[in-house]
Amino acid sequence: MPKTVLKAKNIAHAFDYPLFSNINFEIKERESIAILGRSGSGKSTLLHIFSSFIPPNSGEVEIFDQKIYSLSNDKLEEIRRNKLGIVFQAHYLFKGMKAIENLEIATLLANETIDNSLLERLEIQELMQQKIGELSGGQQQRVSIARVLSKKPKLIFADEPTGNLDKETAKLVMDVLLEYIKRHNAGMILVTHDEEMANLCDKSYKLENQILEEKIVR
Ligand SMILES: Nc1ncnc2c1ncn2[C@@H]1O[C@H](COP(=O)(O)OP(=O)(O)O)[C@@H](O)[C@H]1O
Ligand SMILES: [Mg+2]
Repeated sequence: MPKTVLKAKNIAHAFDYPLFSNINFEIKERESIAILGRSGSGKSTLLHIFSSFIPPNSGEVEIFDQKIYSLSNDKLEEIRRNKLGIVFQAHYLFKGMKAIENLEIATLLANETIDNSLLERLEIQELMQQKIGELSGGQQQRVSIARVLSKKPKLIFADEPTGNLDKETAKLVMDVLLEYIKRHNAGMILVTHDEEMANLCDKSYKLENQILEEKIVR
């Protein structure tokens, strides 16, 4: 039986106005789930709630059966470092450092080693000695995905990871992420407004009118 990697119960959140309520969600290992929705519907906020960065107004988030918002900062930091892979649109690479050095820092902190086949798959192995600032946006995005996957996370949160990539590169990045979760028994929650990317995932949900609903149509 595949294990549950994340479970959310009765999540509700509001900023200036209610964003969503009564959100129930579960993802198991080897599973990829897309969350679709219009701009402003609250997708990024929901992903931040799932990924330990924003405590919801009400409800529980469990990652590997641990209620993350009840954990001490140390415990939470340990889970973030060893289990979670965060791919957001703004990539947090050290601009003045070489690509390879950015990967080395991540693997060192997570006690892992760099997987060269991953670099080849992402077509960035030739760029490793270049400084991040010298790379194009699309190249930087692929380095940042390599950095996240090099940590060997068990749960990936991706917010529009292909948003500013050309179609071909976007497909490559999606394929690499999907291969990764199958190979490493991980889960992936992907936020996107691109139905084509969502259709590559095992399931799609839509965040609309404050409700998260599974889309059955294929
Ligand atoms: N930290 C915040 N403080 C106040 N309002 C916020 C904050 N983050 C997001 N919002 C508001 O919540 C709504 C949903 O934002 P967001 O979750 O980014 O939606 P999406 O990712 O679907 O475009 C927007 O109206 C946004 O302005
Ligand atoms: Mg967003």
